[in-house]
Amino acid sequence: ELSPIDQAKFVAAKKAVEYVEDGMRVGLGTGSTAAWMVRCLGEMVREDGLRIKGVPTSTRTAALAQELGIDVVSLDEAKWLDLTIDGADEFDGELNLIKGGGGALLQEKIVATASDQMIVIADVGKEVESLGHFPLPIEVIPFGWQTTRALVEEMLVSMDVLGRDVTLRMSGDRPYVTDEGNHILDLHLGRIGNPRQLSMVLNQVPGVVENGLFIDICDIVCVGYGDGRVEVRD
Ligand code: A5P
Repeated sequence: ELSPIDQAKFVAAKKAVEYVEDGMRVGLGTGSTAAWMVRCLGEMVREDGLRIKGVPTSTRTAALAQELGIDVVSLDEAKWLDLTIDGADEFDGELNLIKGGGGALLQEKIVATASDQMIVIADVGKEVESLGHFPLPIEVIPFGWQTTRALVEEMLVSMDVLGRDVTLRMSGDRPYVTDEGNHILDLHLGRIGNPRQLSMVLNQVPGVVENGLFIDICDIVCVGYGDGRVEVRD
């Protein structure tokens, strides 16, 4: 018996895997919702003989996919993907996203961008009028990260973005380290007026590798509800 939140994540994942066809190269997202999708695909591989190549977006997802019998390849082996299915922390009416709550935003963005199609799976609680209530993660190089943070703060002031609290993500009493060996700054903004512009400007700060805004990347959102309903937004 699933809790309403898990039920919502599961039905969204179940809907999204309907888009997966035999022979596809599929990007596998990261997070608790994406894990449901990987489990669904694993079942289709084992029980229906579905043949796919999966490109994971984190070491966590790679381990899960392998364990479930999915043929895992690197992005460079796959070169280009037919489809990526991933979770999100927020999505808005234009299907723009905030991602990276789970820390895998860099590989997630590379993989999603290298895909013909990106499908997001989310429970309805992730839907927002405007992005930014969820802290925006940015991945930064460890070298000089405090200077990078100061530059980001200055940039936010000059752009007049409200709520400029920038925090270093921790794992216990140490800075969190991503799969690529970087750190994450969480930008507590409240409301992002112009996500497109913010995304571009952030990536111009030296030391910033990538930010968690996914603009014009997602094509479809499968929205799950606790009662088992699922809606498709495109
Ligand atoms: C991982 O870096 C994130 O982008 C996840 O996709 C996001 O945090 C969603 O995770 P949940 O499905 O666990 O909410």
